[in-house]
Amino acid sequence: MQRPLITAKDVAEQRDLVIPQGALLTPLARDLLRKRGVRPRPVDGPGPRPARYVVANWKSHKTIGEARRFAASFRELQRTGPLAAAAVICPPFTAIAALSDALFGSAQVGAQDLSPHDEGAHTGEVAARHLVEAGAAFVIVGHSERRHAGEDDALVRRKTRVALRGGLQPILCVGETRDERQSGRAEAVVRDQLRAVVEGLDPESVRRLLVAYEPRWAIGTGLTPTSDQVAEMLAHVRAVLVSVAEERAASLVPVLYGGSVKPKNAAELLHLPGCAGALVGGAALKPEGFLGILAEA
Ligand code: PGA
Repeated sequence: MQRPLITAKDVAEQRDLVIPQGALLTPLARDLLRKRGVRPRPVDGPGPRPARYVVANWKSHKTIGEARRFAASFRELQRTGPLAAAAVICPPFTAIAALSDALFGSAQVGAQDLSPHDEGAHTGEVAARHLVEAGAAFVIVGHSERRHAGEDDALVRRKTRVALRGGLQPILCVGETRDERQSGRAEAVVRDQLRAVVEGLDPESVRRLLVAYEPRWAIGTGLTPTSDQVAEMLAHVRAVLVSVAEERAASLVPVLYGGSVKPKNAAELLHLPGCAGALVGGAALKPEGFLGILAEA
């Protein structure tokens, strides 16, 4: 899919630039805006959805200063050419606003979690509206590390709905444990996780959803499933989506793979049938690693 390109000419007279979803700013356009102190606002507008995504999940890494330094070097390295996939970075909550400013449209920003409440007396919770104001367009829901900390499908379902209502695009993580795979239950587990969240969503909401298949035993371990196992599960995810949601909307949901993706194995994993990109932890902590994976997308 052709992504809209915003050039220096387009931004010459702009005081407040809204970037359509998935659009790309040329390095010259970005510099021009930065010099004039104009901050582009990514919006999930009617623009075409990118065909591919590479999403960085920084987990509990990077301070505000470290996130800013990452952004500066990412922008510098990215000057060599436009990216083939939409780049999304999910830093800790505290760094969302600073990272979103410092990236200057070179990548979009997401959060790693959100409150299941719109707002209210919920000490310690960060709500969708806080994330959107800080510059996030995406939010990861149901990551295996949160499920491990006690989140169940019902909570993931609530968070997904709150995210959608709040204007965020949820990246719903599903995946089986090693035991579940070894006992032949991987497909049933993934089906149940998807069903619990997606069933009952209206087509418009389904159109804003992304799914990441992340086998829990592959996260942070250096282990990856075989290409056949990934391709089979991606096809299974699609089949479940189509069976529980409106067919056309479900057929367009980007389904990513996550779990020990690195520049070295990215080309093979990202180009498997049915794969719309990657959710990356460890390898996306350095701009070179993140860009190395983006280069293979
Ligand atoms: P990893 O993490 O790439 O370090 O395996 C992936 C994730 O947790 O989303």
